[in-house]
Amino acid sequence: MTPAAATPSSPAVSIEALRKDYGAIRALGGATLTVRKGEVFGLVGPNGAGKTTLIKAICGILKPTAGRVTVLGFDAGRDRYRLRRRLGYMPQAPALYEDLSPYENLTFFGKGYRTEDLRGRIRLVLGFVELWDRRDDPLHTFSGGMRQRVSLACALLRDPELLILDEPTAGVDPALKQTFWRHFQELKQRGRTIFLSTNMMEEAMRCDRVAVIRAGRILITEAPEAIRSRGRTEITLELAGGGRRVEEAAAYAEELPRLLSGYGLSSEVRRIRIRRPDLEEVILSMIGQKEAGAGKVKTHTGDDPPAGGTAPSATPEDHT
Ligand SMILES: Nc1ncnc2c1ncn2[C@@H]1O[C@H](COP(=O)(O)OP(=O)(O)O)[C@@H](O)[C@H]1O
Ligand SMILES: [Mg+2]
Repeated sequence: MTPAAATPSSPAVSIEALRKDYGAIRALGGATLTVRKGEVFGLVGPNGAGKTTLIKAICGILKPTAGRVTVLGFDAGRDRYRLRRRLGYMPQAPALYEDLSPYENLTFFGKGYRTEDLRGRIRLVLGFVELWDRRDDPLHTFSGGMRQRVSLACALLRDPELLILDEPTAGVDPALKQTFWRHFQELKQRGRTIFLSTNMMEEAMRCDRVAVIRAGRILITEAPEAIRSRGRTEITLELAGGGRRVEEAAAYAEELPRLLSGYGLSSEVRRIRIRRPDLEEVILSMIGQKEAGAGKVKTHTGDDPPAGGTAPSATPEDHT
């Protein structure tokens, strides 16, 4: 199937004021976002933020309490059967048969959806995830990463124009993660739209745009670099007498000239060091978790107050 042209006027996904309550638990509290056709879009947030709930609403397998979800021009709930032919969904926990081989899993899955040229498609997707040689081994002999690859193959089986991947690289080793990202970029180049969730910052950096979600609310949707530039940059002026001044700027490219002119660019200033926070620090300070972990957003427990943008400590990045 040829995907529709990547025009900003017709988004791949449009979510408006989406709310989902599970009894007394508000999983989504009015989330709004738009995914453009042809982009790699990342939903970034800690455990329990509402990522899976939002993804299930996009796939039409969860009924929202309120709000609207439009996917490829269809109402995600009402038109879910029509939509299912056009989107590929990789759930957070692979839904595969352990006693069956990848080939059998894909056959079973493909027949359920009446896939055209099923054998050819299976060959193609198993080749894509580099598991063609293992196609007949039962799944229970596979590692976690191999299962993830079979699960990705399932999502790709119908050559969907929109791929929805719920933490596709969770528990996957670094080498395989690179492979997955190579696949994502390749799919993007073929005009596909990719929507994925993650709690890993190095992955957020690879997305075209990122939505940060916390406690069921979208805090910001922007390109990763634009989010990063919202962090407060620390500027250290080292003076001739051995003293130093530390200044902070929200948008340092604009503020730096004014700040320096305050010093009259005197010969007294010997050295200027600029330290920009990385994306992880900025996002962590947004969601109120100031201490940076090992590249991962930490679990949060609901409505703990934000840390108020406290400058986090991290490896300095110097531009001398
Ligand atoms: N079926 C459910 N019943 C009750 N609460 C749920 C259910 N699914 C999710 N939740 C709650 O909704 C919130 C969001 O969960 P989820 O969407 O799974 O977050 P994430 O995928 O970001 O970890 C959490 O507080 C979670 O406990
Ligand atoms: Mg989840």
